Amino acid sequence: MIVKYTMSTSFSIRPVAPEQTYPLRHRVLWPDKSPEYVKVENDAEGYHAGAFWQDELIAVISLFVAYGAANPGRARFRKFAVHPDYQGQGIGTALLNHVMAEAKRLGAVSLWCDARLDAADFYRRFGMEAVSEVFYKGLIPYARFSRTL
Ligand SMILES: CC(C)(COP(=O)(O)OP(=O)(O)OC[C@H]1O[C@@H](n2cnc3c(N)ncnc32)[C@H](O)[C@@H]1OP(=O)(O)O)[C@@H](O)C(=O)NCCC(=O)NCCS
Repeated sequence: MIVKYTMSTSFSIRPVAPEQTYPLRHRVLWPDKSPEYVKVENDAEGYHAGAFWQDELIAVISLFVAYGAANPGRARFRKFAVHPDYQGQGIGTALLNHVMAEAKRLGAVSLWCDARLDAADFYRRFGMEAVSEVFYKGLIPYARFSRTL
């Protein structure tokens, strides 16, 4: 019997250490920069999730929740990257849903990211909307996207 299965039923999502995210951050997001460039100053304080296909890490995302009077329960995700061979198969959707649930569990009331404009329609699927003018990191256009949780 041939068993047909899809990626959506056969990858798993689990927490990873910050260092595990660096190769995919670099390869997918900033291949022309140095490997150091993809590190975030407060990576040690973040929650990092990875999607695994068998034992291979194929997608990463990093969540940071800010507390305190200035930022009550504002969560931000950064450095969201799916390996090129695995894009368009539902893995990014699963990871973002996972991080939204985790942000809520941690008490966040809103979620934001600096979104590359070529991923804007992807974020709109999750109820996120632009809340800034377009700005640039190098040559890449971005806007801040946000939603309540
Ligand atoms: C953007 C990204 C994280 C999305 O992850 P993914 O696993 O490829 O996305 P999914 O397969 O879950 O996509 C879900 C749906 O959104 C669509 N989609 C995916 N990427 C999209 C994009 N950049 N723009 C518009 N729609 C997109 C898919 O076609 C799919 O549509 P369908 O359900 O009609 O088939 C991933 O493609 C990626 O890493 N891209 C390169 C790096 C990047 O842009 N990261 C985000 C930086 S802000």
